[in-house]
Amino acid sequence: MAELQEVQITEEKPLLPGQTPEAAKTHSVETPYGSVTFTVYGTPKPKRPAILTYHDVGLNYKSCFQPLFQFGDMQEIIQNFVRVHVDAPGMEEGAPVFPLGYQYPSLDQLADMIPCVLQYLNFSTVIGVGVGAGAYILSRYALNHPDTVEGLVLINIDPNAKGWMDWAAHKLTGLTSSIPEMILGHLFSQEELSGNSELIQKYRNIITRAPNLDNIELYWNSYNNRRDLNFERGGDITLKCPVMLVVGDQAPHEDAVMADSGGQPQLTQPGKLTEAFKYFLQGMGYMASSCMTRLSRSRTASLTSAASIDGNRSRSRTLSQSSESGTLSSGPPGHTMEVSC
Ligand code: BEZ
Repeated sequence: MAELQEVQITEEKPLLPGQTPEAAKTHSVETPYGSVTFTVYGTPKPKRPAILTYHDVGLNYKSCFQPLFQFGDMQEIIQNFVRVHVDAPGMEEGAPVFPLGYQYPSLDQLADMIPCVLQYLNFSTVIGVGVGAGAYILSRYALNHPDTVEGLVLINIDPNAKGWMDWAAHKLTGLTSSIPEMILGHLFSQEELSGNSELIQKYRNIITRAPNLDNIELYWNSYNNRRDLNFERGGDITLKCPVMLVVGDQAPHEDAVMADSGGQPQLTQPGKLTEAFKYFLQGMGYMASSCMTRLSRSRTASLTSAASIDGNRSRSRTLSQSSESGTLSSGPPGHTMEVSC
């Protein structure tokens, strides 16, 4: 019998003819660690937090978040929020290459730049959406400024510093691979990379031909030198806000807890992510259930409620909501929602 092969299909649902992207305005502010650039879409909505995004290594806000934020079904959500998309220093479009010897900020310092952005915009609270290094940065920011973070969507977060085994593997890989290949290996699974889909070709081109590749290497080094976030179950170091934890199904080590996953669900599964995000916001009281699609209503009804985010994973599970405290949160029941897509 012919073998069935799993095929990765990228969801596509572009904006409808009447749906035009809102105007964007890009700003830069000076911080104690250098200047940071961010782009604002939409206008502030009274009594609502801003959505603030932080992208992963090798990307900028557009290459990381455009497919998700311009996904058709996402529009009914984001029209209710102003969005602030932060570019890590030197990653913004047209960024000049930093001079030789430039001391790039650590991930902790990148997190410490965020208050300057919010102060400049006069925004008091945010819902953070971060991928990889960006998820780490937003978690660090939330640990330091819990009162300003209403919720966090963390995609492919690795909260741990590299151990000596990781360093050894990293050094070995570095002997035979270029920086772009190492970054692609961080973003995507080996299966995706060898499949060489159009999406992989596009992102390989973006990274290998980036005029700011030297800057990207500096962000990559900061990511690899991150320290442990030190989340403690039931301890003092926990996220106090609701958390939606997303792990790409293409994760090479999907079974390891929040491992360095690979797979970019915000690029390949914007529909699933939109649906989960809508449900997450609804749980926070920001989306009327009448706004939910038929699909998400039926999925919501079939949610499981027993899994903790550090419990066993199941590939077949799409959405689950924690009823116990997990590694990332010791807040009230239902604070953590886990999504695998
Ligand atoms: C937004 O509408 O927030 C958005 C649009 C384009 C790229 C990224 C975000």
